[in-house]
Amino acid sequence: MRHILIDTDPGIDDALALIFALNSPEAGVEGVTTVVGNVTQEKALKNALKILEFLGVEGVPVAPGSTRPLLREPRVAEEIHGKTGLGGAVLPEPRLRPDERSAVGLILDKVEEFGRDLTLVAIGPLTNIASALLVEPRLAEEVGRLVIMGGAFHVTPYGFGNVTPVAEFNIWHDPEAAKIVFDSGIPLTAVGLDVTTDPRNRLSPEALREIEGLGTRRACLVADLCRDLVHRFGGLNLHDPLAVAAAIDPRLVRTKPYVVDVETRGELTLGMTIADRRDPRRVWRRREPNVDVCVSVDGDRFMELFMERVVGV
Ligand code: BDR
Ligand code: CA
Repeated sequence: MRHILIDTDPGIDDALALIFALNSPEAGVEGVTTVVGNVTQEKALKNALKILEFLGVEGVPVAPGSTRPLLREPRVAEEIHGKTGLGGAVLPEPRLRPDERSAVGLILDKVEEFGRDLTLVAIGPLTNIASALLVEPRLAEEVGRLVIMGGAFHVTPYGFGNVTPVAEFNIWHDPEAAKIVFDSGIPLTAVGLDVTTDPRNRLSPEALREIEGLGTRRACLVADLCRDLVHRFGGLNLHDPLAVAAAIDPRLVRTKPYVVDVETRGELTLGMTIADRRDPRRVWRRREPNVDVCVSVDGDRFMELFMERVVGV
């Protein structure tokens, strides 16, 4: 059993990722922490509780985290994820209550409890993870691994930014937090836009029609979450479910080690994740790679898992 804790900003694809994780028999979801990003912290927390309640999950602590990035103002993405953050899905007000701990408290407790058997999966901006590292820098050695959805590394034909030409949203929303995390020495796998925007890993309009045709309670929720974005963009990038899938089954993806720096000051390049792609033999003052960057995915297997675990076919 792989123990995981999910740090998230639900968010449409975050909601899909939570459903994926909570329906994965090889994974024990030990906690969920929420962070400002796609929506405010308050909405992120409520949406996480709504999804757990929809699935009938009890006993998984859900803890609220940062209401703003470390140094900057929040810049939520309601134009993508909708006013509530869950697209066209309407779920009742949750009766489940949040945990009494803060996100940082819950992360540190779970690292203490499971140590190297715990994988942190961060699918929103890295504010909570950086805050936990600032409180307890030993976290970097004590946890098994951190898998993030984040970055655009320019290592595949799809590795461009989404929020700017070069920056991916989660890194761009809190670049200082991302820098702390990338420089911390934590074993880090990054599932970035290089793979999540590969058309082979997207939810196509045909797949949406298939989901709509199923008519089950879960398929209706998934369709309501995805419909607007599939129609607007001709398909939906499954960023966060792919990161969760890679955390649960690392054989699904191929990674390559890179030295990566996060840009925190550039006028045009804020939030860019710069992977050093030079031939290491020609690099003066070589550094040890700090990130395993995901470079390809078994797309057929991933889509099969998505349909099985998220949609429930
Ligand atoms: C990431 O940003 C958010 O919009 C998504 O939830 C995903 O985590 C993609 O850049
Ligand atoms: Ca997200």
